[in-house]
Amino acid sequence: MSDLVLEGVSKSFGGLRAVADVSFSVKAGRIFGLIGPNGAGKTTVFNLVTGVYKHDVGSIRFGSTNLLPLAPAKVAEVGIARTFQNIRLFTQLTVLENLLVACELQKRAHLAAAFFRTKVHYEDEELMHHRAMELLEVFGLQDAADEPSTSLPYGNQRRLEIARAMMLKPKLLLLDEPAAGMNYGEAEGLKTQIRWLRDKFDLTVVLVEHNMQVVMGVCEEIHVLDHGETIAHGTPAEVQNHPKVLAAYLGGDDDDDDDDEAGKAPPGAEAKKTGPASTATAKDAGSEP
Ligand SMILES: Nc1ncnc2c1ncn2[C@@H]1O[C@H](COP(=O)(O)OP(=O)(O)OP(=O)(O)O)[C@@H](O)[C@H]1O
Ligand SMILES: [Mg+2]
Repeated sequence: MSDLVLEGVSKSFGGLRAVADVSFSVKAGRIFGLIGPNGAGKTTVFNLVTGVYKHDVGSIRFGSTNLLPLAPAKVAEVGIARTFQNIRLFTQLTVLENLLVACELQKRAHLAAAFFRTKVHYEDEELMHHRAMELLEVFGLQDAADEPSTSLPYGNQRRLEIARAMMLKPKLLLLDEPAAGMNYGEAEGLKTQIRWLRDKFDLTVVLVEHNMQVVMGVCEEIHVLDHGETIAHGTPAEVQNHPKVLAAYLGGDDDDDDDDEAGKAPPGAEAKKTGPASTATAKDAGSEP
């Protein structure tokens, strides 16, 4: 079992320190929350872990593997998969096909085997198909397997992205705002599904999320960033009442031109809200490559 360990990680874009001396460890098997107001550096941390960006200083390790030299495809091979803040599905493909393309790289059958339609190839296709249907069932999407992925409602497109990430058989799953745009009931379902995936596949989950109903309900440990820096770490109860966290979410940040109110709601207040308004956090950040 591999822990994810960040030590003294910093990343600047020009003069902006997006991530500033951040350290935390995610124990294997945990459901771990990474939260903070808009622009706190959460997605950048995911981009650093997955090799999209390279950190300037510090270290990021997964088990005994130093992730710094690895390109994104290699990071996937060591068992780290992610979803994106902005949904990235293959719009021309069906729901099922979106899952099957995910493991092209992982197929045991090499190109020649595929070309000659050998037995290995068929066995692999069968296994992939079986896993894909199993994952679609977890998310209640099996009946939509042959529908175009774009026909799914927004919340289900997010679930499909998680299912697709799971096709890679990751040990560590990074979810970037999976509950964005989900209503209360959908978010409750997502909590159950995240727990189910962790238990069934011995997975470690890092959850970036503004929806406090989900964060406080499913995370066992939470790390809080603000302006790239760590401001708190602890259990949901500890973090929820931490003065720095309350100040970060409530504090005036007048030069921030991002008007996503859900991202600014204090964790405690957000957790107590139950209506769809409290969960509608869909937004586009300009930080994804
Ligand atoms: N490629 C980039 N080039 C320049 N600045 C960037 C880049 N990526 C991120 N940033 C900046 O780094 C800071 C942190 O961004 P990041 O997207 O990591 O925040 P976040 O915590 O994910 O916010 P949100 O909750 O809004 O998604 C922001 O000020 C952002 O504008
Ligand atoms: Mg983000």
